Amino acid sequence: MSDEILTDIRDGVLTVRINRPDRKNALTAAMYAAMADALERGAADRSVNVALFVGTDGVFTAGNDIKDFLNDPPHTEAAPVHRMISFLASTDLPLVAAVDGPAVGIGTTMLFHCDYVHVTERAHLQMPFVDLAVVPEAGSSFLAPRLMGHPKAAELLMLGKPFNGSEAVRLGIANQIDAPEDLEAAARATALAFAAKPPAALRATKALLRASENQMQAAMKREAEAFSKGLASAEAKEAFSAFLEKRKPDFSNLG
Ligand code: COA
Repeated sequence: MSDEILTDIRDGVLTVRINRPDRKNALTAAMYAAMADALERGAADRSVNVALFVGTDGVFTAGNDIKDFLNDPPHTEAAPVHRMISFLASTDLPLVAAVDGPAVGIGTTMLFHCDYVHVTERAHLQMPFVDLAVVPEAGSSFLAPRLMGHPKAAELLMLGKPFNGSEAVRLGIANQIDAPEDLEAAARATALAFAAKPPAALRATKALLRASENQMQAAMKREAEAFSKGLASAEAKEAFSAFLEKRKPDFSNLG
């Protein structure tokens, strides 16, 4: 599994590459654990000033692995996905992301926790939680309406509408659009710009920017409870099986 999350520390930048292209970089529990380990170590390492998330050619991540949702759902707070999400929500380490192609589920919600997001025009962002019979996670039920207002947040979180790179910039989720061939270099240049700042002042500034989001922890607790309930539901089992069997889900006879 180890090559499914690749990490590298250079010039103050911890790069975390999601690398499972045959599954559109869908994230398994083991991959969340590897990401959380790398990030927690990076945040404690004085040679690391910023983390940079990248995917593979034309794919950021298709979100949680749906087979994992079906066979090994995350039930406790100690589950690797919750460790990763809690890191994102509480860290003062600056976070940069480079997003091309699919960025679905947590592939979109993790961006709410980043400090600078590069996207391509063809980025495909989506939060299809309801379609999978679960609920928003990673604080997105709190952060999305705050960022874009209730109507748009409801459109994206309740109807699960996909959107592209320009829309992500318009909504304030992303900072800038790059051509696919320039994306990683541009995101690395941004990461290096963060890394060149005085690190303590930079981290203190991030902590200040996020200080008013303390209600987010309560929102995340509510989300995790509702998410676990959703995962165990007959609706979710039908939604996950339908995806894996490449058919339309049928929620009409679930009792
Ligand atoms: N979990 C498990 N497997 C996944 C996956 C996921 N989240 N996303 C993609 N895959 C698998 C597909 O089942 C397919 O497997 P196969 O080769 O055995 O048929 C393979 O990865 C390639 O995906 P495919 O759907 O053919 O690619 P695409 O380019 O047509 O579409 C997506 C890309 C991301 C739009 C589409 O795969 C998708 O919607 N994935 C599910 C996203 C999702 O709902 N994530 C959970 C959010 S909470």
